[in-house]
Amino acid sequence: MATILIIDDDDAFREGLAETMQDLGHTPLEARSGEAALERLRERGAPDCIFLDFRLPGADGLAVLESLRGMAGMQNVPVVMLTAHATSDNTIGAMRLGAFEHLTKPVGRNEIATLLARMLAAYPDAAATPVFSDETPSREPQLLGVSDAMRDVQKRLGRAAGTHSTVLITGETGTGKEVAAQVLHRASARSGGPFVAVNCAAIPPELLESDLFGHGKGAFTGAHAERRGRFEQAHGGTLFLDEVGDMPLAMQAKLLRVLQERQVTPLGTNRPVAVDVRVVAATHRDLPAMVAAGTFRQDLLYRLNVIPLHLPPLRERIADILPLAEHFLSTLAASPDAAHKRLSADAQRMLVTFHWPGNVRELANAMERASALAPGALLTREDFAFLFDTNASGNDAIPVSLAELTLNDALAQLERALIARALALTDGNRAEAARRLGISRQSLYTRLANLGMFDA
Ligand SMILES: Nc1ncnc2c1ncn2[C@@H]1O[C@H](COP(=O)(O)OP(=O)(O)OP(=O)(O)O)[C@@H](O)[C@H]1O
Ligand SMILES: [Mg+2]
Repeated sequence: MATILIIDDDDAFREGLAETMQDLGHTPLEARSGEAALERLRERGAPDCIFLDFRLPGADGLAVLESLRGMAGMQNVPVVMLTAHATSDNTIGAMRLGAFEHLTKPVGRNEIATLLARMLAAYPDAAATPVFSDETPSREPQLLGVSDAMRDVQKRLGRAAGTHSTVLITGETGTGKEVAAQVLHRASARSGGPFVAVNCAAIPPELLESDLFGHGKGAFTGAHAERRGRFEQAHGGTLFLDEVGDMPLAMQAKLLRVLQERQVTPLGTNRPVAVDVRVVAATHRDLPAMVAAGTFRQDLLYRLNVIPLHLPPLRERIADILPLAEHFLSTLAASPDAAHKRLSADAQRMLVTFHWPGNVRELANAMERASALAPGALLTREDFAFLFDTNASGNDAIPVSLAELTLNDALAQLERALIARALALTDGNRAEAARRLGISRQSLYTRLANLGMFDA
């Protein structure tokens, strides 16, 4: 149950929204203009969240949002912006100022209910209770997330855990594919059995077969003793085939046969061994595209993809960024009661607009690095400046996702990413962003328009 301030001059809409919130068990407060709202806030303090219309008499929504962010105690209150017509410009403007969400009118009851649940989970108010505090504080891997997208992933994972079907996990680097595989194993009936991980990209192709299927004594030069393969090691448990997209074609054929027959024949023997293994595969590659290109077998893709599980990139689930950041900060604190470092409002704003090419892994590393190096207890935007320092952080390597695109598409993506970065770093100041990028302001405008990044 939360106190929610609705700022909108459209009486019918505002009252309707207030009624819905009351229905959902919350306490709505109403204001017809930004000025009235600000006065109310000064008198009564911060609500749990604010719904703010863009077009208002007097100061418009963005101006009100900006004033709010400057008010003591108001920096972290989540704000949902409302518009009749969403444009990329007002969306970007709102997100840049740290709005939690941007909704287009009319908004349905269900939309409000899920949004409020997500928001209240992401912003456990000033008392700063860790968002994930109710989760097991163990060392076991956890697939945390409060966004709709991650809730869907968690639900699907839970359903998959109840079956023995093969699962194919896809997602960019650092999105949690390995964590998902471990969580799936732990949640399954096989949790008492072994979890065996094989990185298909890290093992030389000529060794992969004996690694997976094992070999008999004298199977090849150097095979002095017989060795059980990973499939046998995973008997009764889960075999995690990581980077399955990197498996050579010849090996793909053999894997397919094993998956169909549920038995392996160790190299240099002709004794098939039955194996009871659930296979979970993962890749950051686009397997359908590889099938089209003839580098991945379609029949194997069907075999693996019985239950697909896609982990969206972090930039597509903005609601997860701050809760995860908080989580990493609190686990970094030396002891559970030790005070951990906190994020300033401007750091929070920067983190939610950053595009996180390395996803959750990069976020975790950024929290570790910033809290190790920052002098104070409050981490500010400057403490994360290294995120924009392409050379020092190794971000100048070509991301694998880009390597798979046509040159034009890759250049457009890179341009978009660099511009978004410059805008995030300068808090949306286009003149300064252009200067950082070494281009004229006019050129930045043209590029933004060409890339569809704003409607000029
Ligand atoms: N949802 C999450 N909750 C908590 N931690 C996460 C989550 N997702 C990822 N992590 C953390 O991020 C790091 C990277 O995760 P993981 O190794 O599973 O990524 P990956 O998708 O397998 O990446 P790659 O493709 O590079 O192998 C790990 O330290 C993991 O603990
Ligand atoms: Mg991985």
